[in-house]
Amino acid sequence: PKLSKVFNISDFEYLSKRILTPHAWAYYSSAADDEITLRENHYAFSRIFFNPKVLTDVSDVDISTEFLGVKSSAPFYCSAAAQARMGNEDGELSIARGCGNEGIIQMISSTASYSLGEIVEAARKNQPQWFQLYVNEDRDISYNTIKQCEKLGLKAIFVTVDTAMLGRREKDLKFRLFDDEDEVSSTESHADDPLMNFKDVRLTWEDIDKFKSMTKLPIVIKGVQRVQDVLLAIDHGVDAVVLSNHGGRQLDFSRAPVEVLADVMPVLKEKKLEEKIEVYIDGGIRRGTDVLKALCLGAKGVGLGRPFLYANSTYGEQGVTRAIQLLKRELLLDMKLLGVSKLSDLTPELLDLRSLHNR
Ligand code: FNR
Repeated sequence: PKLSKVFNISDFEYLSKRILTPHAWAYYSSAADDEITLRENHYAFSRIFFNPKVLTDVSDVDISTEFLGVKSSAPFYCSAAAQARMGNEDGELSIARGCGNEGIIQMISSTASYSLGEIVEAARKNQPQWFQLYVNEDRDISYNTIKQCEKLGLKAIFVTVDTAMLGRREKDLKFRLFDDEDEVSSTESHADDPLMNFKDVRLTWEDIDKFKSMTKLPIVIKGVQRVQDVLLAIDHGVDAVVLSNHGGRQLDFSRAPVEVLADVMPVLKEKKLEEKIEVYIDGGIRRGTDVLKALCLGAKGVGLGRPFLYANSTYGEQGVTRAIQLLKRELLLDMKLLGVSKLSDLTPELLDLRSLHNR
């Protein structure tokens, strides 16, 4: 269908299922074990309701913000997703361009299908990008990567900490087992197990201290799932955390990030630590209302993973651009209906959390 007929972010997923190779579909859509966490990432949002304000003059709504001191045209970003080229020849390059068109930050995966240099090259001049780091067993490789990020002008390093081992994504595994021989060779060529070289079961807070000491770039930890670890992150001088379960792809029965957020923020508030760290979430965000719920709970911003892969697989750069526009449009409308003009006025009082807490 024409891109103008794509109505919302989820349409890209529906269309992707029809056009992606079975292997690419399995790789993108799969999650760990029984995919309970994947489901929860979506369901948790459906347990949060609004208490909108009325009569507040919403003629002038602003959704622009700053992430770690860098401007973003909206409070969401493109999260790291490996192997964008499985769905579109231009891979991460067209994702970079789409993000550039709309002033959104792209987080570049350690396991991207193009080189870091190529993806930076594809971006506009001064277009902010982040790097997602899988820490190598050989730490010198990771240190060099961080130095390279400084040289290339990336704005932050997101260290993924939920991937000591790769989760079991059975949909993906089964596909490969039952696949015919032709496809097996293409499976190898995507090398979507490059994590085998990246993961390190010995990664600890000491490594985070080392990263902090060797670079001025903000260090962010991606994949935090509990209050105590947010407090530890503050102790270790980490600039931001992403509450994330890797889109349900790692430990099944991890909780939905938006639920963890509802635990974390009251503790930070009580301990007067809110200013010490920026808190982001990703997982299951598909609607303007999802973004609003996270922001009301205190998130600085939210990331989306699969939607960018799907938009890029179906329509390339134009699809990515449209996905961002659709989400922005929803967000603007939803802000008006909620009776709020500024992101800074989004507070927990605008939410009814009873269903979330009493599930
Ligand atoms: C990911 N994600 C991910 N995260 C990361 O830190 N490095 C990576 O290379 C990847 N690769 C990756 C591939 C695919 C196919 C998916 C679906 C996800 C996780 C990603 O950054 C993010 O945490 C989730 O995708 C967020 O959930 P949603 O938006 O996909 O529901």
